[in-house]
Amino acid sequence: MKSFQYEGMPKVYFGEGALQPALTKELPALGGNVLLAYGGGSIKKSGIYGEVLGLLEKAGKTVTEFSGIMANPTYAKVQEGVKLARENQIDFILAVGGGSVIDCCKIVSAQAKMEEDIWKAEFTGHRFPAEFIPLGAVTTVSGTGAEMNNGAVITNEETKQKNGMLGALSRFVVLDPSYTLTVPMRQAVSGAFDTLSHCMEIYFGKPSETNVSDEMNEAVMRNVIKNIRAMLRDPKDVSVRSELMWDSSMAENGILKLGKQTDFQNHMIEHQLGAYTDCSHGQGLAVIQPAVYCHLVKDNTAKFVRFAEKVWHLSADGRTDAELARAGIEALSDFVREIGLPSTLTELKAGMRPGSPDPTDREILRKVADSTILTAGCARRFTPDELYEILTECI
Ligand code: NZQ
Ligand code: ZN
Repeated sequence: MKSFQYEGMPKVYFGEGALQPALTKELPALGGNVLLAYGGGSIKKSGIYGEVLGLLEKAGKTVTEFSGIMANPTYAKVQEGVKLARENQIDFILAVGGGSVIDCCKIVSAQAKMEEDIWKAEFTGHRFPAEFIPLGAVTTVSGTGAEMNNGAVITNEETKQKNGMLGALSRFVVLDPSYTLTVPMRQAVSGAFDTLSHCMEIYFGKPSETNVSDEMNEAVMRNVIKNIRAMLRDPKDVSVRSELMWDSSMAENGILKLGKQTDFQNHMIEHQLGAYTDCSHGQGLAVIQPAVYCHLVKDNTAKFVRFAEKVWHLSADGRTDAELARAGIEALSDFVREIGLPSTLTELKAGMRPGSPDPTDREILRKVADSTILTAGCARRFTPDELYEILTECI
C-alpha cells in the first residue's frame, strides 16, 4: 500500500424517492438564492425539473436557471454560469444532470469566488481554489461518478484541451436510480463502461501488487459487467440501475484508490480525442482501452493475468502467463462488442452526429497523440509516436 490521507465523501442520499427527503433536510441551512443548473432539457421531459423546482419553491428559494450545459462542457459555458452566479448573488448551486452538468458547476462554484481566471491559475500558476459557493448534485445519468469528487473535466475550445481541473466537492448528493430509466440505452451502456474503465484505470496503476483496494475493485468490476448485461436484458429493472449507480460512485469516491497511484492514461488519450472530435466519453474509452492494454500487457503481465482470472473467470488451461494475460484483454474486447459499444474509431464515427470532426482522420489523431498528457501511474511511459501508433491501430 502507498501511504494515504483520506477525508470521506459527500453526504449521499441514495434510493428511489431520495430527492424529497434530501432537499427538505439540506435546503434550510443554505442561502436564499439558488442557481439551478441543468443540461439540454432531458430533466424537463422526465419530470425531474418540476420535482426539483417544486421543492426549491416550497423552501422559499429564489431560483435562477443555468441551462443548456452541453455534454463535454466548455470553459465558455463555465464563464456563462459564473456571470449568472455573480449577477444574482447565488448562495447555493444545485447541479441536476450527469458528469457534464456536475463538472461545469464544480468550476462555476470555484470561479465565482475567485478574481483570477481559474484556467490560468490552475494550469499556469498551479494555484487551486480554496473558496466555493456551496454545491449539491442530483445525478440523472450515472457512470462518471463525478458527484463524488472535486475533479472536473472541462474543454477549452480555444486551446483544444480537455483537462481535469479542481473545483468544489458537493455538500450532498442525491442518487435516485429510477432517474436513469429514461437515459437512452446507448448512453446508459457508455456510462456504465466509463465506470468499468475507471475501475481498470485504478487497478492497473501502481504498485502492481494486489492490495485490499484492488480486491474490492475486482468485486466492483464483476458487478458492473454483470449488471450491464442485466440492464440490456431488462432496461426497466430499477435494482439493476441501483447497482450500476452505486458502482459508478464507488469507482470515484476515492475508496478504491486508497494505497494506489492510479493510471488514467486511457482517460488522458480519450480526453484529447474528445477535445478534437467531441465524441462520447464512454464510447471513446471502449475503443481505446483494449488497444492500449495490448501495448502494456508485457509491462504488467502478472496483473493482467489476475484480471483475466478474477474479473473474466478465465483459467490457464495450459496457457502461458502471457497467453492468459492476453486472453483477459480479448475478453474485454469481446465484451465491448457484446454490449454494442464501438470497438474501432470507424464505428465510433458512425455513431457521431453528422458534421462532427472525423475521429479516423490521421491529422487529428496525430494532434491527439501529441497533446495527450503522459501519466506517472501508467505501467510504462508512452511516447507520442506510440500513442499515434495505438490510435491508428484503432481505425
Ligand atoms: O443535456 P440533457 O438534455 O440533460 O441530456 C443528457 C446528455 O445528452 C442526457 N441525460 C442525462 N440524464 C438523463 C439524460 N437523458 C435522459 N434521461 C436522463 N435521466 O445524457 C447525455 C449525456 O450527459 P453527460 O452529463 O454528458 O454524461 P456523463 O455523465 O457521461 O458525463 C460525461 C462528462 O463527464 C466527464 C466526461 O469527460 C464528460 O465531459 N467525466 C467526468 C469525471 C469526473 N468528474 O470525475 C470522470 C470521467 O472520467 C469523465 O471524464
Ligand atoms: Zn471516465
